Amino acid sequence: MKVYVASEKEIAKMAAQRYVQLINTKPNAIIGGATGSTPIPLYKELAKQCKAGNVSFKNVKSFNLDEYVGLDGNHNQSYRYFMNKQLFNHIDIDINNTFVPSGIDTKNPSRYDDMIKAAGGVDLQLLGIGVDGHIGFNEPGTKFDSLTHVVKLEQNTREVNSRFFKSINDVPTHAVTMGIKTVMNARSIILIATGKNKAKIVKEFIEGPVTTKCPASILQLHPFVEVYLDEEAASLLKK
Ligand code: GLP
Repeated sequence: MKVYVASEKEIAKMAAQRYVQLINTKPNAIIGGATGSTPIPLYKELAKQCKAGNVSFKNVKSFNLDEYVGLDGNHNQSYRYFMNKQLFNHIDIDINNTFVPSGIDTKNPSRYDDMIKAAGGVDLQLLGIGVDGHIGFNEPGTKFDSLTHVVKLEQNTREVNSRFFKSINDVPTHAVTMGIKTVMNARSIILIATGKNKAKIVKEFIEGPVTTKCPASILQLHPFVEVYLDEEAASLLKK
């Protein structure tokens, strides 16, 4: 696992360069998208790089990590809506090549793994991290061999995410998420974490034991993971 520490702006640029390099070498690359506040600066940077003609997503396919159960893509808190607004509408990707797990048809969620496999597998998976160590919506206790599945969200996760909703009662109770194995199947992974509130969990997943209590700790066992942190998120790490 390689760890880079720089300002929020700088890490967005560094991570964007990974995409540019990948897609320029493999124009039909498969990328894995993440939601949350953390990736927004990266998505802005990708849009900038695309507009400047430094990268084209024309032949790229994208598979997102997760979606709230019960929200369709037109709901302004759905992750499909988020991805269109924050990234897809600003780059030259074919929208038909962008996939987000369905929050409405949640029968056989592991079909999503079959789709990813059929497309050739994810080349570069982007991750954020929840304050409890969740990746995607894989909450503590999720089995490391899990494929895409429906999860019940922890109360704390719903509280943290309620900042985007009118009230906590509007936050869905369940989500569908790529499993931990789905994430680990990606050929390379970038995890970004910023801000003081992530410092404790960042230390835990990088320096602590590999345990299902901290889902992100499994990344220690992946052969190609890059972690991009701002100074605050990195502040508790041993130098
Ligand atoms: C949500 C998403 C995660 C994301 C996490 C952190 O729960 N399912 O994929 O990493 O929030 O979000 P933020 O970047 O806003 O801190």
